[in-house]
Parts: sequence; structure tokens; C-alpha cells
Amino acid sequence: MNVAIRGRKRPFRTVSFDAANNSVQLIEQRLLPHAFEVVSTRDYRETAQAIRDMVVRGAGAIGATAAYGLAQAVRAFEGTDRAQFHHYVDEVVATLAGARPTAVDPINAMNDVRAAMKAGMTVAAQQELSLLAAETFANNDVSDCQALGRHGLKLIKSGMRILTHCNAGWLAFVDVGSATAPIYAAHAAGRQIHVFCDETRPRSQGATLMAWELAQQGVSHEIIADNAAGHLMQRGEVDLVLVGADRVLGRTGEVTNKIGTYTKAVLAACHKIPFYVAIPLSTIDWKLKRGTDIPIEERSGDEVLGAWGIACEPGAKIPTGKVGHRRTYVRVANPTSQARNPAFDVTPPGLITGIITPEGIYKPQDLWKRRSELQS
Ligand code: MRU
Repeated sequence: MNVAIRGRKRPFRTVSFDAANNSVQLIEQRLLPHAFEVVSTRDYRETAQAIRDMVVRGAGAIGATAAYGLAQAVRAFEGTDRAQFHHYVDEVVATLAGARPTAVDPINAMNDVRAAMKAGMTVAAQQELSLLAAETFANNDVSDCQALGRHGLKLIKSGMRILTHCNAGWLAFVDVGSATAPIYAAHAAGRQIHVFCDETRPRSQGATLMAWELAQQGVSHEIIADNAAGHLMQRGEVDLVLVGADRVLGRTGEVTNKIGTYTKAVLAACHKIPFYVAIPLSTIDWKLKRGTDIPIEERSGDEVLGAWGIACEPGAKIPTGKVGHRRTYVRVANPTSQARNPAFDVTPPGLITGIITPEGIYKPQDLWKRRSELQS
């Protein structure tokens, strides 16, 4: 998507690959919205670290980063011994997959790369195929998100007020985004819409990343405290809830997404507000049988006990996108208290109106019956 830097708009992808330097290029999301920088990783360990530290985050974006990280590692392998090479690839995949455990996209992305590599008879041939496959995954991520926009557009009428949670926007993918795809399509079609961005504590991806994206694209929006959604729903001020997902179980239709999604789904059901989840095909897990089997990442309690930002007086005007504008951490909570910080939750299918996929909109309970079209 376009990013305005010093008054000039330039298109960026969240994740890309520099083949000449064998490096993965990432928008440094921890600096947004106060600074815009692209960073590169020199080897797969640095790439895994960037996923773990959330330089890059969001299921689709970490999927593409893992695919590129695998290609980066494969291309760096020196030698021709195939047994040694396979052992090395197993190690690389385990490192990248372990960086963040909840999203299934990195696993699906690396499975795609490994499957494509099988066609190569030599290490050199597999090295070449690995990058082609990673590029294909990244390009499919973009075209899947564009298709989500086409299908989701029919849910959005002029005048609607839409609630989102976390950032399921282009920063969470290679481009376009999942929950944002119908929003951007409606905005481009001239429909008057307003988006409420849940702040999404503890890391505030709604207040920082989603709001920054929408501001860049000129979409009307306001940030709300996570606890404000019920009040707005009760007053009839929310017409639709649109979120993304990190893992959707194909067998059950259960949806794992950023912590607090389940709460919003309960509220939406209580107020009879449609609740939709937008996903590319790489977010579907066809293997797991139960939501309770999904590995839920537990993050540092420091995220709950404090917050990151830049120091200023309340109400001060702050320039955005400045290079070198560094954020700081402030402790908010009682200094002697500890915190618990599960990063994701699981929403049962009964609370979900529909899953927007690149193939169309489905009831979550119907994914399994329709798996032949969704796996293609
Ligand atoms: O912890 P994050 O920022 O990686 O969590 C991201 C989300 O939960 C998004 O809503 C999710 O990835 C869906 S959009 C890809």
C-alpha cells in the first residue's frame, strides 16, 4: 500500500526479499506510528528473531517472512550433500516455526516451500526453487487479500460503522490485509464508512498500526478503548464487526485471533451484530481437531504492566513517520505486581456469522464440507 514519506506517496510491501543480498526486508512495525523504517535480516536466525520480537507480526506477514527466511537459509547452504542439507532444512523450519507458535500461516508457508523444493534433483536446484516458492507464497497472499476485498465488499453499505480488533490490515500481511480488504474496497467504491479501532491492549496494535494504516489511506476512523465496544454496541453505533485470524480450524470452524476477539464476538452476538472473520487460505489448519489443541502464545507480563510510546504532553501535536523517532516504555502498573499475558483466544463457530475467504463467504461449520474448493 502507499505510505506518505515527507509528503510523497510510495508503495511498500510489509515483507519482501532482496535476492542480491540474500536478505529479508521488513517494515519495522515496533516503531510505527512514530517512525517509518525498513530493516533487513542477514540470515535465517535474524529473521526468526524479527518474528519473535515482533519487528514483523500478523499471521500473513509472518507466514511470508518464514517462507523467505527458509529460502534465505537454503540459499546460504554451502555443499552438495543431500542428507546434510535435509537435516539443516529441518532445523531451519523448526527455528522459524517456533518463533511464534499460534499462527498456522508460517507452517503452511514453509510446507509450500518444502513441497516446491522436492522437484529439484540437486541442492543447487532446490536453492533456486525455494526462493521462487517463497515469492509465490507472498504473491498469493496479496491476491488472496484482494479477493477478500471483492467478496467482503457486499457486506458493507454506505453509512456503516465497523468495529475491528488488533491489526488485520496490510501490515499484518504482505499487502492489502484481510479485515481491511473489504474496508479499503468500500472506501475505494466511495461508500461512506467509519471504523472503530479497538485499542487492543496490551501491545495496542489497533491504536498504533490499524489507526496508522487507516489514516494513511484516508479512511474515517476513531480509536476506542477495548472496554468501550459493548457500550457502543448497546447504543446502536456498531453495524458490523470485521476481524482477521491467526488460525482457523477447518474441521470445527473455531477461530483463533488476538486476545479480546472472543469477548467482542460474545458482545456482537448479544447485540445481534454481524461478526465476520476474513482470512486467506493459508490461515486454515486442516489438521487440528479441537480449539483447545491450538498452542496459545503466552507473552511477557511486561506488555500488560506497561506501555510503549513517545513522551509528550497530553494533546501535543506529534509529527508522524519521522526516522529516528524512538519510542520508550513506561511502567503503568503497581511496581510489585506480576501479570499474565495470553496473546490469543479462540472464538467458537456459533458466534461467527461468516468466514470471508478468497473463494467466497462460508459459515464456519461448512469449511470442512467445502474443503476441496478451499484446499485447491
Ligand atoms: O500478535 P500479533 O500482532 O501478531 O497478532 C495479530 C493478530 O492477532 C491479527 O488480528 C491476526 O494476525 C489476523 S490478521 C493476519
